[in-house]
Amino acid sequence: MCGIVAYVGPKDAAPILLEGLQRLEYRGYDSAGLAVLNKGIKTRKVKGRVADLASAVPARFKGGIGIGHTRWATHGVPSDVNAHPHLDSSERIAVVHNGIIENADELRAKLTADGAEFASETDTEVLAHLIARTVKDTDTLADAVRTALKSVVGTYGIAVLDAERPGEVVVARNGSPIVLGIGEKEMFAASDVAALVRYTRQVVHLEDGELAVLDSDGFHTFTMDARETAKEPLTVDWDAGHYDTGGYEHYLLKEISEQPETVARTLRGRLDDRFHIAHLGGLNLTPHETRAFRRVKIIGCGSAYYSGQIGAQLIEELARIPADAEPASEFRYRNPVVEHDTLYVAISQSGETYDTLAAVQELKRKGGRVLGIVNTVGSAIARECDGGVYLHAGPEVSVASTKAFTSTAVAFGLLALHFGRVHDLSPADGRRICEGLRRLPGQIAEILEKEQEIAELARKYAGHPSMMFVGRVRGYPVAREGAQKLKEISYVHAEAYPASELKHGPLALIGPDMPTVAIVPDDELLDKNLTTLGEIRARGGQVLMVGHRVAEPKLVDDCIVVPKNEVELDPILLTIPLQIFAYHAAVALGRDVDKPRNLAKSVTVE
Ligand code: F6R
Repeated sequence: MCGIVAYVGPKDAAPILLEGLQRLEYRGYDSAGLAVLNKGIKTRKVKGRVADLASAVPARFKGGIGIGHTRWATHGVPSDVNAHPHLDSSERIAVVHNGIIENADELRAKLTADGAEFASETDTEVLAHLIARTVKDTDTLADAVRTALKSVVGTYGIAVLDAERPGEVVVARNGSPIVLGIGEKEMFAASDVAALVRYTRQVVHLEDGELAVLDSDGFHTFTMDARETAKEPLTVDWDAGHYDTGGYEHYLLKEISEQPETVARTLRGRLDDRFHIAHLGGLNLTPHETRAFRRVKIIGCGSAYYSGQIGAQLIEELARIPADAEPASEFRYRNPVVEHDTLYVAISQSGETYDTLAAVQELKRKGGRVLGIVNTVGSAIARECDGGVYLHAGPEVSVASTKAFTSTAVAFGLLALHFGRVHDLSPADGRRICEGLRRLPGQIAEILEKEQEIAELARKYAGHPSMMFVGRVRGYPVAREGAQKLKEISYVHAEAYPASELKHGPLALIGPDMPTVAIVPDDELLDKNLTTLGEIRARGGQVLMVGHRVAEPKLVDDCIVVPKNEVELDPILLTIPLQIFAYHAAVALGRDVDKPRNLAKSVTVE
């Protein structure tokens, strides 16, 4: 949600900022801007994409220190004026900001009464005026930023330039990520390592309440009360190639297609054929502690939550521990009862989603034990948790989640196997699940070979204004994720229901204009599902069945057949054709597949 880049060094900042912003554009893409220092602050800001900003920046836009921003609007409509950076009236201070200043209205009123003239409708602009007022009375820009931030309530990741101190950039973090990148006689900062990997692999994550001063010799980090902090740089293993489309038309198709490899990476080194167990070294739980948990509660948002529903079923089935999933965005607001014998599991691809982070913090405050299933190493949620499992799926750039969803479900397969074998899952069943997990990458590759067949079906169904997705028990989270993918990237209205609930209401919607995608695995519920298909057909509804066999023509119009795994693991495979279906529906409708309207990749605001 919004992207920040900053550069201090001997080169011209503008091309580096533009390159970084391009890599961050998936975080927000309604306007963009940058500022460089060169005898004062020079800015360019545009409504639109980073490419529009690049066209607006002159070829000779000199200045070796700069900050840039790509925006996802919260306060004020997308426009040139509301785009960041924001400057104070004297044009001494420039600020880019991610997050939300909650007391912006109150601060704006005070600053206006004090003579400040506001140019934009944004909350960010108050920061520029506040810092400009304090900087006159402080020895350093860092002191001015620190003093200004004391009167701010809300979340921020910021980068600040001072026209009168042209050798440095100050960055600060509270609730919105800031990562420093260490180069040779140059320093970078960004809201995401994606913007840095082209230049350096050595990074430092700021903690909430930390501030850093960057100059071309390096960096110093401080707490908000000016105590210097010691930071160890991390080496990131993602490289710039991960952020290219790799010859695919869209990141989304690239990320769908990568799944045989990304699932193999999630599994790598974690399956033990001797004892038929999973090795998950990062859980930080002894077998004794693991046995003591009586319940598992899983939290995450959006697709992460749906993968958590698959996870809850896997844990219940394999470990026989009661488990359920809940949207983290709801959980955090309902003053949850935190029990000492419940294990909490937080899921996040980005590791930054504010609702999930806030839920984890609330759990920790109440003494809950929280594991993280996270893709981004060193991210805020990963650091906040007591232990967990990294997905190793590589960066996910397209706004809609695909490979992270699948790897999360696979990580739950590992976790459920681990819990199961600590409890009562037999060695024979352990072996069955180990072997099933190992088959997944090859079976995903088989499904990908059906891309053209699925694309044909997507084109056939994409013209309908609405689609129903149904599934029973194991199939229900699959249906929910299928509907989510379709609606977010194709804008076709899609509803997901448990198949068992259809006749309790939504069957009234079924008719020629409302086709149904039915998830029908070959499991103990097959007959019940086939009966539901008959009920839909009897009401004139078309049926696209996704399952393990071709059903009779009187029950279905079309079928997508996927390879069969173990019943517990089948939901993982059944989701893949729905990703391909949504992708091709979106392409057929001419949508902006990687950057769907109104959305952003990491939702770092409430
Ligand atoms: C949907 C999607 C979102 C995310 C959700 C959580 O395709 O991508 O629903 O799953 O915003 O994001 P993370 O996993 O980064 O916490």
